[in-house]
Amino acid sequence: MPIVACPSEAFDDAWALVRRVFPRMGPIERLSHVMLRRPESFSARALMRAAGIRDLLAFDVELDERGRVLATGGLYRYRADADDASWLAWFCVAPEARRRGLGQAVLEHMERRAIGMGHTVLRLYTSTDANEAAAQRLYQKNGYVELARSDGLSVTTIFREKRLVPPTDPA
Ligand SMILES: CC(C)(COP(=O)(O)OP(=O)(O)OC[C@H]1O[C@@H](n2cnc3c(N)ncnc32)[C@H](O)[C@@H]1OP(=O)(O)O)[C@@H](O)C(=O)NCCC(=O)NCCS
Repeated sequence: MPIVACPSEAFDDAWALVRRVFPRMGPIERLSHVMLRRPESFSARALMRAAGIRDLLAFDVELDERGRVLATGGLYRYRADADDASWLAWFCVAPEARRRGLGQAVLEHMERRAIGMGHTVLRLYTSTDANEAAAQRLYQKNGYVELARSDGLSVTTIFREKRLVPPTDPA
């Protein structure tokens, strides 16, 4: 199935998947569904301001033939970034749908989305949580270089980035 902008009727399902896959989200991350659902609302704008987020660029999903959400991925930008980087977020595949190439497909899709918006860098943060070990392999395989680490109470946050290369015109 194609990867599409999350339809409003699939939003609850998509968010339930994100919550299931990332049970230890921080407070802003947990509230980010408010920003995704109604980005123009007062609450969403207040949250974005508090989190230093400039704007939300995408929240996309892969659905199965019955309309259930199999995977999610999103993009946003930070106010503090001096360059045109977008950040990958809410990126996950339902546990029962893993190891079938969906994660790779969603990652490539989000890269194409960022390139289409004229961005030349894609950044993300992940962590040493065992739940995110597969993602480290995926990111390494796809050329995401480690920028920095930040130690937390239970896990270390890992920042990565990739320089995006627009496809060359075949003509
Ligand atoms: C990371 C994640 C998105 C991968 O999704 P997926 O659909 O299983 O991935 P794919 O089938 O497309 O696999 C692509 C590559 O990822 C790596 N990978 C995926 N699962 C892996 C695993 N269990 N162990 C080791 N490497 C793994 C491999 O390099 C794989 O390439 P290969 O098949 O050629 O070996 C999924 O495991 C997930 O949702 N994890 C929890 C959430 C998360 O960590 N999100 C990102 C961090 S913020």
